[in-house]
Amino acid sequence: NKAPLRITVIGTGYLGATHAAAMAELGFEVLGLDISPEKIALLERGETPMYEPGLDELLRRHVAGHPDSSGRLRFTTSYEEVGEFGDVHFICVNTPQKHGEYACDMSYVDSAIDALAVHLKRRALVVGKSTVPVGSAQRLAVRLAELAPAGQEAELAWNPEFLREGFAVKDTLHPDRVVVGVRSESAEKTLREVYATPLAEGSPFIVTDFPTAELVKTSANSFLATKISFINAMAEVCEAADGDVVKLAEAIGHDDRIGKKFLRSGIGFGGGCLPKDIRAFMARAGELGASEALTFLREVDSINMRRRAHMVELTREAVGGTLLGTRIGVLGATFKPDSDDVRDSPALNVAGQLHLQGAQVTVYDPKGMDNARAIFPTLRYAPSAHEAARGADVLLHLTEWREFQELDPAALGEVVAVRRVLDGRNTLDPAMWRKENWHFRALGRPTA
Ligand code: UDX
Repeated sequence: NKAPLRITVIGTGYLGATHAAAMAELGFEVLGLDISPEKIALLERGETPMYEPGLDELLRRHVAGHPDSSGRLRFTTSYEEVGEFGDVHFICVNTPQKHGEYACDMSYVDSAIDALAVHLKRRALVVGKSTVPVGSAQRLAVRLAELAPAGQEAELAWNPEFLREGFAVKDTLHPDRVVVGVRSESAEKTLREVYATPLAEGSPFIVTDFPTAELVKTSANSFLATKISFINAMAEVCEAADGDVVKLAEAIGHDDRIGKKFLRSGIGFGGGCLPKDIRAFMARAGELGASEALTFLREVDSINMRRRAHMVELTREAVGGTLLGTRIGVLGATFKPDSDDVRDSPALNVAGQLHLQGAQVTVYDPKGMDNARAIFPTLRYAPSAHEAARGADVLLHLTEWREFQELDPAALGEVVAVRRVLDGRNTLDPAMWRKENWHFRALGRPTA
């Protein structure tokens, strides 16, 4: 009966905070590290810096010091403590897009490996989870071996993460697959032990080499982005031909080989992952001399960006050709529902463009107001959908929150200046709005 593995999680953003809490839930002793003392203080109170359904509750169930908590989860800012504590170290720091470039910025991963390596005090497995350009694991393994103190056995493995924001807890505790890139049987064995519970529940376990493990993540995200841009391209054709892209998606989705999911057309994808991941993938393919293989991703990206521009054009058209001085109500600021994340948000981008072109834009979002205000303070913000709609010449639906599908068009009709709505997410019911005499238009659907 050997002691259970002791796990550390380096970086406590979306990925790290969720992974740390999930590991504690699976029964391990966990130490989370972040370089930000403010973030650590927050986590120690059982709070997260972001809105993620179920995560605060999960944290409070395990963070040491909370009433009735398991006490299995602690946090620190000290690499020394982490090096002494852990058998398995998960690297969960972010890899944002480099400023003004397609490539991703590896500096947080590099410095995490450097800072950890010199403090390793016992045999350890270091597991990369961050999304990185293919070839990084190989490079980091060399770095780890160079920096680890003499006599310490430190091995690297790669274990990409596929969690979706809004479903982070569920996706982490019940992953639809676990992929590991390993170089030894012992690394595989350790990771089987870490994921014993999900594996026992039936999650497939895929063992492969470093480059394949890294590529699984970027290719999965590229496929998802392609699926969205495909349906958005069909929306463009539907608009030209007076077809209905929502019916079309439903009909092609019945073919199992195509599938229904990720075929919702609208103003396109955003967030901290898909846009930057496809760009970093193109940049890396270029370095590898394989850029031709990914030229289609350039098209995927430009179809996606065209959606935002198209929404701005439709809005201009809707208010009679000029935006200057018009009043626009915007429903949604986050890049997707059930999240407060506004990184590369199509909704906020459209709202911002309209504002810059002279419209008076008032935004409401159920969870994203603070983050939106921080990056776009010059927009107006309203405390409810009704207040955002008050006096509007046109109402835009830009993030597919459930709350917006349940709005009462009759009541909203009382507060707007003109009953005109543009659905940028194809989740509102046209019949419901038209019945209350709204002029309803949706991307890729017939006008009446
Ligand atoms: C994504 C991947 O799904 C996840 O596996 C990976 O680990 C990280 O990147 P996430 O960024 O949380 O997750 O968002 P996702 O749910 O994939 O949505 C991305 C964007 O696509 C959102 O802006 C969403 O509104 C949009 N989208 C999604 C569509 O426009 N149409 C769809 O049919 C689905």
